[in-house]
Amino acid sequence: MKNKIAVITGSTSGIGEDIAVKFARNGCRSVVVGRNEERGNRIVDTIKTDGGEAIFMKADVSQSSECESLFEKVMEKYGTVDILVNNAGTMRNMPITDMKEEDWDKVFDVNLKSYFLCCREAIKIMKKKGYGRIINISSRGWLGGTTQSNYAASKGGIVSLTRSLALETARMGITVNCVAPGMIDTPLHRQSSEEEVGFRMNSQPMGKVGTPRQVTNIVEYFAGEENWFTTGQVLYVCGGMSVLASLS
Ligand SMILES: NC(=O)c1ccc[n+]([C@@H]2O[C@H](COP(=O)([O-])OP(=O)(O)OC[C@H]3O[C@@H](n4cnc5c(N)ncnc54)[C@H](O)[C@@H]3O)[C@@H](O)[C@H]2O)c1
Repeated sequence: MKNKIAVITGSTSGIGEDIAVKFARNGCRSVVVGRNEERGNRIVDTIKTDGGEAIFMKADVSQSSECESLFEKVMEKYGTVDILVNNAGTMRNMPITDMKEEDWDKVFDVNLKSYFLCCREAIKIMKKKGYGRIINISSRGWLGGTTQSNYAASKGGIVSLTRSLALETARMGITVNCVAPGMIDTPLHRQSSEEEVGFRMNSQPMGKVGTPRQVTNIVEYFAGEENWFTTGQVLYVCGGMSVLASLS
């Protein structure tokens, strides 16, 4: 990973933050992407104190103009993109009967449209250089979950997007893979009600939640230059929840 340029969306907190920090520790230049400048700059400072290299770039990745300008700025600064981690995500859990059109659209704009937009910009660059690693963060939840119809459908879309782009880029030196985390202790997870967390915790085969680092380790594998024969795959990091889901 040394000297590779890695763009990580939604990396001002949670799993994305951990990926940006760990990648920089591996010698990558991490491009921390998010909407919160203060948090983004704090993460860049932490990385630099640790001896790594990073830059914060402000972007709402659900907006095509902001995505295009993000990749233009990365090209101006570093001249290339080697790794893209699509990680930005949001949740608006509720029964379908309460769900407004805007609850559906918001979740799809952040969770799926932004992945399309960033993949499109990154692949233009990666295709020219004949090299790239794209890792999309889906969710174990794509298998289905009550009150999560918008979230699950958007995360299922990420799996389909990954598989299709893996084929489309297979002869371009680019791999596209997907990581599907289960319950991971992050701000997004803590946003759920105590009742919801308690219910989900009880259904965990391991009886505990994962840490962002568990996800980062797998993202790191897919991002490795040496792992060029693995593409279009979905790897669950969910403490066995996906096995349970297929039995229920
Ligand atoms: N934590 C879990 O249990 C869990 C489980 C499965 C999947 N995931 C997925 O992991 C990813 C990271 O989530 P997390 O748990 O670290 O939560 P998080 O809330 O800490 O991270 C999500 C990040 O995305 C950013 N974001 C949201 N909308 C954005 C936009 N329009 N433009 C730019 N950034 C935006 C948020 O500001 C935040 O920094 C998400 O895609 C999430 O769906 C998380």
